[in-house]
Amino acid sequence: MKVFFNGDYLEKDQVSVSPDDRGFVFADGVYEVMRWYGDHFLGFAAHQKRLLRSLAEVRIEWPAAYKLEVITSELIRLNQLQKQDALFYLQVTRGAAKRNHVFPLPSIIPTVYATTTAFIPNSAAVEAGIAVISLPDERWLRCDIKSIALLPNILAKQKASEAGAQEAFFIRNGIFTEGSHSNVFFVMNGVVYTHPESGAILSGITRNIAISLCRELSIPVVEEGFIASSLDMADEIFISNTSGEIIPVVSMDGQPVSGGKPGIVTKRLQETFQRYALIANA
Ligand code: PDD
Repeated sequence: MKVFFNGDYLEKDQVSVSPDDRGFVFADGVYEVMRWYGDHFLGFAAHQKRLLRSLAEVRIEWPAAYKLEVITSELIRLNQLQKQDALFYLQVTRGAAKRNHVFPLPSIIPTVYATTTAFIPNSAAVEAGIAVISLPDERWLRCDIKSIALLPNILAKQKASEAGAQEAFFIRNGIFTEGSHSNVFFVMNGVVYTHPESGAILSGITRNIAISLCRELSIPVVEEGFIASSLDMADEIFISNTSGEIIPVVSMDGQPVSGGKPGIVTKRLQETFQRYALIANA
């Protein structure tokens, strides 16, 4: 598999990252994930914008010589993914320097690593829905930055996995914020509720597309966090992320949601999303 590493396209096993890399030592970096639909990326411009925003927020400068359009198209070509589903992963760290919390001076070149991997959508989850658990949100308040520091997310997802569930929903101050690797939505009396953009969530590209598609379908959307103690009143629950698009939730903490089956609003949005994602330049 060919990967991008600091300006070169290499076989993955030829990449060597310094043990002094601040990504390795401090998780001092950011990342992006995009889905390739065989002939186009969904939301390329939005992902690029979010990457640049994450970088600016953590004060890492994107090397001007690297063009995201070129990196993505070269990796798709070199890995012969032109007609397949794939995931693109890119991570940028502050670079390698002697361990010191303060930014290195003189400034160093960031480490940029990107891969494309053939991807098979999880059709069982998409069709039948998933089980989730809820957990206290113990993360920092800059979840809007797509940081590679994902320890709380990993621990949450591991707990979910050990409970036989596929996602963990975080609760902060009695309100559902987001999932360990997804945004979360609740449908109540025909209205879709999702946490507003803030430091408490990542502004998901899939979330934002889902909100616009709801509006096109005249499904009312309220950007308000759902109150955890009102869970019994939720008629449907679903999650969104780049790899899964829209995935129904059919149980939470062992209790069935929407009778243990994907809900009607969820299904309608999911089908609309699937059609939208196939449109090139979406
Ligand atoms: N994760 N919230 C969190 C904490 C996430 O990690 C993700 C995505 C999302 C959804 O964002 P988007 O719709 O832009 O994918 C929300 C990616 C896919 C990952 O870490 O693999």
